[in-house]
Amino acid sequence: MTSCRAQDIRLTERFRTAGQGPESTSAFDLSCCDGRIIADNDERRLAPDRVVNVMGSGAARAQANVALAKYWGKRNEALNLPYTGSISITLAGLETFAQVDFDASLQSDSLELNGVAAKQDEARKLSSFLDLIRRQSGVSRRARVELRSNFPVAAGLASSASTFAAFAAAATRAAGMCLTDQELSALARRGSGSAARSVFGGFVEWLAGEADDGTDSYATQLAPPEHWDLGIVVAVTAAEPKAVGSREGMARTAKESPFFPVWLQVHDADLEAVRAAIRVRDLALLGQAAERNCLAMHAVALTARPPLLYWNPGTIAVMQRVWSLREQGVEAYFSIDAGPQVKILCPMEQRDAVADGIRGVAGVQRVLLSQPGSGVQHVEVG
Ligand code: PMV
Repeated sequence: MTSCRAQDIRLTERFRTAGQGPESTSAFDLSCCDGRIIADNDERRLAPDRVVNVMGSGAARAQANVALAKYWGKRNEALNLPYTGSISITLAGLETFAQVDFDASLQSDSLELNGVAAKQDEARKLSSFLDLIRRQSGVSRRARVELRSNFPVAAGLASSASTFAAFAAAATRAAGMCLTDQELSALARRGSGSAARSVFGGFVEWLAGEADDGTDSYATQLAPPEHWDLGIVVAVTAAEPKAVGSREGMARTAKESPFFPVWLQVHDADLEAVRAAIRVRDLALLGQAAERNCLAMHAVALTARPPLLYWNPGTIAVMQRVWSLREQGVEAYFSIDAGPQVKILCPMEQRDAVADGIRGVAGVQRVLLSQPGSGVQHVEVG
């Protein structure tokens, strides 16, 4: 087995030479760690040989994802353990950069989001995620954290996914932790469930797992980005943060919707259809399953008490435009996460035509073009 130290140095070089280009698709490959998963027991310290080269600083970037078979409901709220598996595509170009510096001179964590000091609730969340890393690594210093996203945050564009994937990678690097892809995914999951998937590029499944401690609940790559040249168009219909976050939305739905058991029942078939469609690159199968699963998730959210409606008039207008494009023979399908933005899947060669068709829809503020993107990547600092 390669020692962590040697592996770590090799990785540093690989990320430096990987050049952060879009073709550089892999997430981490820390074979030194033997695929062991850190228990989700906060008190458990990583074995000393797996905390190496405490560099104090680390930086990484990760991209958002769109869920095709969605995560909506937690069997364990503290550990972000889902009732069901979920599958997503990592979105090229919708990116968060994270830099973490553990600094002995700091009395408390200093946390900045897009150049602005984190608000109290954000700061609490980010600091408790750092506490988890401090407990697992044995590093006790406070940290300076800088997070920057290049797309609207907290508005249903999976910014928490890219944020926590990048943050987990940067902070564990700074703390010298030697983690496998799976461990990093399980750790990112603690910050935000969907972040477990953004650790990987391309087409990604997050396994629900069965263990109470969450050790078997992590994401795995189904296929790399180049497996399927899909076009993705994102219609931004509101830039402000949503009123009800996904954590509260899921909890309310699971507790208060009489249809929640039905959602759990139908979800498995969608998951299977999405998996099969990715395998054989069947866009009609994928798109129909994704739309069906999206509408089921929003239906179950709508039937929570009080109801949760994430859409605005622009959202509905875009959905209708997608259906009418389909009637005209364009292979386009939508999905919507916990917010008003609409993500549209189509063949890459039709992406510009779909984007043009969406730009004119009332309520659309911005159209972003994307495609399957890469997993989390370290960025060399200093
Ligand atoms: O990871 P969270 O807590 O932001 O929840 C994400 C929920 C959805 O985006 C609606 C679905 C999903 O699977 O990403």
